[in-house]
Amino acid sequence: MKEVLEQLDAKRRAARAGGGEKRVQAQHEKGKLSARERIEVLLDDGSFEEFDMFVEHQCSEFGMEEKKIPGDGVITGSGTINGRLVYIFAKDFTVFGGSLSLAHARKICKVQDAALKNGAPILGLFDAGGARIQEGVDALGGYAEIFQRNVLASGVVPQISVIMGPCAGGDVYSPAMTDFIFMVKDTSYMYVTGPDVVKTVTNEVVTHEELGGASVHAKKSGVADGAFENDIEALTQMRRLVDFLPLSNRESAPRRPSYDSPDRIEASLDTLVPPNPNKPYDIKELIRKVADEGDFFELAPDYAMNIVIGFGRLEGQPVGFVANQPMSLAGVLDIDASKKAARFVRFCDAFNIPIVTFVDVPGFLPGTKQEYGGLIKHGAKLLFAYAEATVPKLTVITRKAYGGAYDVMASKHLRGDINYAWPTAEIAVMGPKGAAEIIFRKDLDDPEKMAEHVREYESRFANPFVAASRGYLDDVIQPRSTRVRLIKALRTLRKKNLTNPWKKHDNLPL
Ligand code: HXC
Repeated sequence: MKEVLEQLDAKRRAARAGGGEKRVQAQHEKGKLSARERIEVLLDDGSFEEFDMFVEHQCSEFGMEEKKIPGDGVITGSGTINGRLVYIFAKDFTVFGGSLSLAHARKICKVQDAALKNGAPILGLFDAGGARIQEGVDALGGYAEIFQRNVLASGVVPQISVIMGPCAGGDVYSPAMTDFIFMVKDTSYMYVTGPDVVKTVTNEVVTHEELGGASVHAKKSGVADGAFENDIEALTQMRRLVDFLPLSNRESAPRRPSYDSPDRIEASLDTLVPPNPNKPYDIKELIRKVADEGDFFELAPDYAMNIVIGFGRLEGQPVGFVANQPMSLAGVLDIDASKKAARFVRFCDAFNIPIVTFVDVPGFLPGTKQEYGGLIKHGAKLLFAYAEATVPKLTVITRKAYGGAYDVMASKHLRGDINYAWPTAEIAVMGPKGAAEIIFRKDLDDPEKMAEHVREYESRFANPFVAASRGYLDDVIQPRSTRVRLIKALRTLRKKNLTNPWKKHDNLPL
């Protein structure tokens, strides 16, 4: 027996060694952790239960039968984050560049199946060069099986991808179908094809960073929901994110004790909105002052900054915050902002997370660039997302709610449960100047008359009371009491029961 146990130990040691010490050292030299080290940081101490560490590929092409490394380039299993079950796979770049063989794919599929069956999130840590070239169609088929499971799991269990090295091909398409993608600055890249292929096909010379670094995807393309300084920061932030999420769509988002008083009044909010309606202010200040302990996990902070999204808690209950940001493009809704917020609203709705919307929006961004880019279709995504959402929806209009954007931003008419406004709210079809110029066009050449028309329009509509008189707002509240009022509102919605008509699925304007 002793000998058998020693053999087992030796086999485990070989699997744990991955591609060997030298390659692990090369990872460290690039500022990256090894796959095993990443799992250790991500999961609770000692909670990792590994599957399939002895799996090897079955490829015999290009001399591959001589090159078998147990585990085959991906480490898979289950563990806990703050005591809650998660499934995990971590690509091991030290083994064939983390590339995907059929055997490797089957390991990932096993984890995906278990997560779906047992109702727990899947976290994928990516550091890999896509399909294993030596395996050909077996590797392509392996990817398709993973993609299929990504889709089946979508909306059932949260799926989170962290890009932690150069990733190409299937190692970017699988993340693309998950709920969130995060990157590590300077060491992670995402592209469908790498710089060498780009040069061959298009003659374009680009660096890895220019083609698919965090600076591209977290700022320009919006593919990534955030970028972190290093592996440790990325992984510890993932622990924080998972704490906001339910394990599956069968559960409510996890409430936890709050040490922040539900009766906390924030007097400073009374002066957050400047007297001049064209002056910006930071909507994140409102979010932080309202959320428990000021804790706000912002998503995509550097992309479409005119809208702010992320998770926080109210009286221990996780909520998704969506807020127009007057500091960026006056908080206007454009294509990027609409897409960013729509996807977040749909995530919250799929996973039973109430949505709190703060509105200060001058409308949709006019112009040919936006229209040619399909603003109609992309703006409709946000409208669609809010309209179909059945989770509790709480809305506070802080200042402008103009035009179609008033409708879109979780208005009463889209089944907003509780809609409040601050006394500084202005709810109208458009801003006073634009409105006066259209309805009093005949007086355009008379500045005095026009000024009078603008004043008249302002006094009629630049307040929340017309909407309140129609019942489109449930109350006009003191800014200082926003946290208290939202918490009380949320308490009334704990057992909210609303379902949409049966359908196979909707047809969101893509
Ligand atoms: C087999 C691979 C590999 C792959 C890397 N390696 N990618 N082996 N199949 N796809 C191996 C390398 O041969 C090398 O082995 C080791 O991993 C490390 O790779 P390097 O190139 O030395 O590392 P680096 O310079 O950091 O570059 C990383 C990389 C590059 C950018 C990922 O390796 C690369 O471009 N790889 C190919 C990417 C690709 O085009 N994949 C196919 C995508 S198609 P040795 O032993 O020499 O150290 C796809 C289809 C899916 O995925 C379907 C999508 C819809």
